[in-house]
Amino acid sequence: MRGRPTRRANAIPLASAEDAVCKSLQGVFYLIDIVGVSAENCRPTLDCRNPTMSQLANQIAVVTGAGRGIGRAIALKFAAEGADVACVSRTVENAEKVALEVRALGRRAWAYAVDVADSASVEAAGARILAEAGRVDILVNNAGVTRDGLLMRMGDEDWDLVMDTNLKGAFSFTKAFARGLIKQRAGRIINVASVVGLIGNAGQCNYAASKAGLIGFTKSVARELASRGITVNALAPGFIETDMTAVLNEQSRAELVKRIPLGCLGQTGDIAEAALFLASPAARYITGQVLAVDGGMVM
Ligand SMILES: NC(=O)c1ccc[n+]([C@@H]2O[C@H](COP(=O)([O-])OP(=O)(O)OC[C@H]3O[C@@H](n4cnc5c(N)ncnc54)[C@H](OP(=O)(O)O)[C@@H]3O)[C@@H](O)[C@H]2O)c1
Repeated sequence: MRGRPTRRANAIPLASAEDAVCKSLQGVFYLIDIVGVSAENCRPTLDCRNPTMSQLANQIAVVTGAGRGIGRAIALKFAAEGADVACVSRTVENAEKVALEVRALGRRAWAYAVDVADSASVEAAGARILAEAGRVDILVNNAGVTRDGLLMRMGDEDWDLVMDTNLKGAFSFTKAFARGLIKQRAGRIINVASVVGLIGNAGQCNYAASKAGLIGFTKSVARELASRGITVNALAPGFIETDMTAVLNEQSRAELVKRIPLGCLGQTGDIAEAALFLASPAARYITGQVLAVDGGMVM
């Protein structure tokens, strides 16, 4: 029987819960080693030697719709975990405000006012981001809008705006960075869909179609890019407290809460934590998935 390798024998003392995970993984690898199976490709990239290391150190992220709500929370969470962030928003004020907040966390940030529904603007912005940031490692397609109405009353304008922003916007931004990610043979793409894309919602046929489309897009691009080490996943938030849901009156809110097993609306931080997980080394073997963060609405 082979002896235990020196690198693992010298591992730092285990103190935290994260250390305990590392310890059990080390045990598993030790067992694999003694039965003679080479597990090098299957080892997680969790760094067991430094569990406190920032999860996104030296990464460059682009977050669309970063100016408010969920996008802002993701941009700040990523920055707190060591990423530099390109903040894309419809308005220059909101993009710049969040870029300032990112810089206050000690990271580099760039602000871009871009209408994601306009593919020519996205292409130009993508080129500027690559020129200014140097490269992109993580793309979060989060920008989104609602224009609710019953099918029989919905006009083309409301249909087109929602599809162009929520679905074509993600397509255009993904295209803008795909070539670079493929060259790097690494990258993360996270698309912010919605539970409504999974279960539908009366009065939101345009929005639900855009989010269901985004889920199909996620799975297809995940298959296209997997061989290059790029993961593509979707988040499906339930009802989250942001400007988007602030329009709900008390009665609708109470009705909504009845449909949520955990009994409350989610917070932007709940989605940011899930995005961080999908962007982190811990999720390296997850692609083409939809992670519902919804208090149990869809199960
Ligand atoms: N809140 C929820 O309950 C919920 C649930 C499920 C899914 N989602 C999804 O989560 C994402 C974020 O939602 P949220 O609640 O944070 O929304 P929000 O508070 O309304 O913020 C939307 C963000 O998207 C940006 N944006 C909108 N249209 C854009 C465009 N054409 N080009 C560029 N940026 C644009 C806005 O820019 P400005 O700030 O510059 O206006 C804003 O920063 C959306 O995709 C939404 O569909 C939200």
